[in-house]
Amino acid sequence: MTGRSNVWVTATIGIVAALGLVASGQTARERLKDPSRLNERAPDAFRARFDTSQGVFVISVERDWAPLAADRFYNLAKNGFYDDSRFFRVLDGFMAQFGLHADAAVQSSWTSANLRDEPVLRSNTRGFVSFTRESGPNSRYTMIFINYKDNSYLDADGFAPFGQVVSGMDVVDKLYSGYGRQNVPDQRRIVREGNAYLLEQYPRLDFIKAAIIESAAQGARSTWSGVYTRAQASRGQTQYEQRCEQCHGSGLGGDATEEIPALVWDQFFSQWSGRSIADLVARITRSMPPDAPGSTDSRTATDVASYILQANGFPDGSEELRNDDVVLRQTVIEKRAAGVN
Ligand code: HEC
Repeated sequence: MTGRSNVWVTATIGIVAALGLVASGQTARERLKDPSRLNERAPDAFRARFDTSQGVFVISVERDWAPLAADRFYNLAKNGFYDDSRFFRVLDGFMAQFGLHADAAVQSSWTSANLRDEPVLRSNTRGFVSFTRESGPNSRYTMIFINYKDNSYLDADGFAPFGQVVSGMDVVDKLYSGYGRQNVPDQRRIVREGNAYLLEQYPRLDFIKAAIIESAAQGARSTWSGVYTRAQASRGQTQYEQRCEQCHGSGLGGDATEEIPALVWDQFFSQWSGRSIADLVARITRSMPPDAPGSTDSRTATDVASYILQANGFPDGSEELRNDDVVLRQTVIEKRAAGVN
């Protein structure tokens, strides 16, 4: 290596380190001002709990229904975007709308962070949740609404439901609607002035105290705690060799062209850390092998998942990983701790 490239390398490392410091020092609010960074893929299924001035309701999301919407909603809820925002357009017998940030400086960052339209696979009936949109294409961004009744005529207009209120619909019913259709707050002013405008002119609006993504409930456990048995991983290996190895390789390393992803190490963790084994099993049963999707049952997929865990260095334990959706959902794939190799 020449002296010159050495200097270049050192300078690059310096810049990368500096960027790292800036990133870690960012407050949550600063992060909310950068839509390009809130781009995590949502789990295949998750629940968001809304603690409001009227009580708690829970939205359950199936990513398949509308993946772009689910990803956006996941990132916003997870990063606190909806906290303190008002249910500013609640129309009895129609729907409850919210999702403009309390702080105008944050909301303005999202004006052009629009989502592409996507197919409407579920219907806007009572309890279903969709992003609002304008009459133009690709106009969804942060505002969402909960349907009070069968509004399925909206389906044809591209309002794609991504979730459903699964508990607390009575709370949604109670949200303050007294300003009525004649006196709905001016959305442009909310965007420009945030909660200051609403607090002054619409003080009775209900609001979200905090929205959180429910982790895999109380019983969550990490894949570090010995969640499968050695015998199970060995069964999984046999299946893997018959059904998967031809593509994903004998060391699970994928193929050299990277068209077939590795199921170990960096590639594996970048895709799966923080997600549950239920997601991994669902991915396998739904789409693997690609030439015969649906041909791998969830029991086989659970065994293969055990083998994949083993290959990634997770320890075996004394109990088998049960092919039970609740158990699988509560078993979370965790990235290896720093320094462990
Ligand atoms: C014919 C080749 C082929 C076979 C056989 C196959 N896969 Fe795949 N697999 C792929 C390709 C290509 C992708 C990436 C594209 C896609 O998602 O379809 C993939 C993606 C995956 C992913 C997602 C990985 C990631 O990083 O996103 C998993 C997990 C997976 N396969 C597991 C399996 C398992 C388990 C089996 C056996 C039951 C299997 N595959 C069989 C070709 C194959």
